[in-house]
Parts: sequence; structure tokens; C-alpha cells
Amino acid sequence: MKLFPFAIVALLSLPAGASQVEVLHWWTSGGEAKAVAELKSEWAALGNQWNDFAIQGGGGKSAMTVLKSRALAANPPEAAHLKGYELKEWAGLGFLRDLTPMAEHLGWYARLPPMVRDTLSQNGALMAVPTGIHRVNWLWLNRKVFERLELTPPTDWNQFVAVAEQLKAQGVTPLAIGNEGWQLTVLFEAVALGEGGVDFYRKAFLEQDEATLTGPDMVRVLSRFHQLRAYVPKSFVGLKWHQATNQLETGEAAMQVMGDWVKGELSAGNYRPGEDVECLPSPGSAGLFSYNLDSIAMFKQRDPAQLQAQGELARLLMTPHFQQAFNRVKGSIPALVEPDMKRFDRCAIKSYQDFKAAEQSGTLLPSMAEGMATPTNTRQAIMDVLGNFFNDGRASAELTAHHLARAIRSAR
Ligand code: BGC
Repeated sequence: MKLFPFAIVALLSLPAGASQVEVLHWWTSGGEAKAVAELKSEWAALGNQWNDFAIQGGGGKSAMTVLKSRALAANPPEAAHLKGYELKEWAGLGFLRDLTPMAEHLGWYARLPPMVRDTLSQNGALMAVPTGIHRVNWLWLNRKVFERLELTPPTDWNQFVAVAEQLKAQGVTPLAIGNEGWQLTVLFEAVALGEGGVDFYRKAFLEQDEATLTGPDMVRVLSRFHQLRAYVPKSFVGLKWHQATNQLETGEAAMQVMGDWVKGELSAGNYRPGEDVECLPSPGSAGLFSYNLDSIAMFKQRDPAQLQAQGELARLLMTPHFQQAFNRVKGSIPALVEPDMKRFDRCAIKSYQDFKAAEQSGTLLPSMAEGMATPTNTRQAIMDVLGNFFNDGRASAELTAHHLARAIRSAR
């Protein structure tokens, strides 16, 4: 508390010289790297220096491992892409800088949608600044393939399977996906929303209700998920999410179920989201919006120059200009209230409209797959069970429901 007034001065004063920040993130695919380049160039335009600490690996698992070792060696970067429960856990351990003084002084709270403010707060303190809101429950489909084969886009999982069978018969991979636990969990989450519905999703993942985890709806959801094994690429093992998107772009595969970071990849490859590749709610999930809020947290520092650099970065991230430029490339939508969506693509506009509607109707749901709904240990336990289940052709849905409940219980 003693440092408080000083910290505020350091945070709010204008740059005396070039500020330097080291920023850890896992935005390394083609589209993601373009989004980071946008951030770097806005940072450089302020006369500052960016030290990139990029760790490959969708889902961020490797990035988090590296971050832990740096923090344990008392040498964390000034800033890191930390989100959801992971953010709350780091905050709970006392590693992160409290950004509340800046938020209060600069009037940020009025500019953050309620979901954003809640997700970024720990015991009432703001622990990170948002960079964008990703929607997770999307179905992407290659329009040319659908037109050529005269197929109708599926709006529920029965239709999905029917379409997938026809695609397969024509030699097209129905579903672009790799066997990584987190990619499979994104797919599972979409099935849980579409087959199980909102109440099921809330009970199973937010409340972790034992009866729901082992009940008939869960068995049905798991069976449907397992059925989708029949439609994955031959190169499923080790396929990265952006390589899967590549298969979708070329028409080697017809569909992908993934968050809208896919869109960054499409644009980077000159494919038009909403035109060459259609964006639809994942089957059965129209009206629902499962969100993944990306955010940057600041690690505690003593050096006034570092404090100042963090403050400047936070301020930049909160500008409407940055939020527009970055999210248009990243595939997400700005995480500020009433963003100007004029220059965004069709899918982003749909995402924003659906976000507003879901806010109103109470169907805005934290994504379990993206670490927004459960503590990190629980998410990891769920991913392990789902990964083993999907990768084993003979696994039973009934037994897996019990494994899932047990794994969640022991992760608590
Ligand atoms: C992050 C996104 C990122 C995606 C794939 C997600 O966990 O929130 O920003 O694009 O992983 O790397």
C-alpha cells in the first residue's frame, strides 16, 4: 500500500523516453502474428520498444509452462497474455499488478462490458486489460464445397452427421481438426451446447454437478462427440488448428468447429470470412455465445521505468483505435462498450450482434475449453479425459462420464 501514490504517478505520467516491454503470448500462427504486428506497430509509433516473447502452441499450454519457470526464477516479463481462470490464479498468488488505480483514474470501468469487467476482476480489483472477445461456438464451412456438392449447412448435430456422410462419400474430409486435447475440447464444448443446451452446460461445467456429469444427457453428448471420430482428417494426429484451417481453405476439408481466431488465419491467406468461408453458430447453438476473453496482465515490478512502460501499454490496449485495428486482424471483436463495427467483416458483425443479444437474454456463456469456466486444473482434467476418449475407438461413453466426474472431483 505504501507504494500506491508513487505507482499511480508512474502509471499516469507521460513518457519521458522510450519504454520497453517484454510481452509473453502464443499468437504465432500467420493470422495471429499479423495481429501482434499491428500491436507492435502502434507501440513503436509511440516511440517505444517491444520485446517479443512468443511461445508456439495453440491453447497456450507451452506458453504457460514457460511463464511459470520465468516467474519462479523471479524474472517474469512485464506483460503476458493471461486470461480467464489462469489470470485469476496468477492474481491470487500475488504475482500481478493491480490496475484498479488506472481504471478508476481513466474511467475504464464505464467502458468495459459487464462480462469483461467481471472476467478481469479478482476480489473487486482489475487484474488485466482486455484485447478482444472471441466467440468459440462457431461452425466454419467452405462455401464452394457446399455449393459444388449441393449440400445444406447443418443447424443441428443430426444434420451435421448426415452432411458429413455425404462429404465423406465424395472424398472430402468433413471435419478439419487435430488430436490435441484443447482442439477436441472446443469440439466437445460445441456438442455439449448443441446437444445438451444451456442448463446442461451450466450444471455440468460451471456448477460441476455430479448427477449431470454422470447422467443420461452427458452420455448422449459424449456419444455424439465420439461419433465425430469418423469424420476427422487422415492427418489428424499432430495437426495444428491453423493447419486444419488451411485444409478448410483449400477445400480438402469442408468444415471446422473452432473459435473465431480462424478468421485471422483466413484473412491472412486472402480468404474472405463470411464469403469464401461461411460462419454459422455451431450446430444447435444459435442464440448462445460461448466467449473467450483475451487479456494482457502486468507482472509486479519495482523499477519505475518498467511501471511506466506497463502503464503506457495498458493505455494503448484500451484505446478504441487499437481495439479496432487489432481485432479486425485477430478475428475477435473489441472488448469495449459500443465499438464502431463499420469496418469489420460480416462474421465479426454477426458476432457482435449475437454478443449483445446473448447479454440481454442471459445466454452469454464462459467457454470451458478456453479456460473461462473452470479452474485450470479442472480444465486440464477434462481435456485429458476427453482426449483419451476421442482417441480410443472402443471407449465407452457411460464409463467416460464417470471418469469425467471423478477427474473433476479430484482436480478440486
Ligand atoms: C487464445 C486466442 C488464440 C487461440 C489459438 C486461444 O486460447 O485465446 O487468442 O488465437 O488460442 O492460438
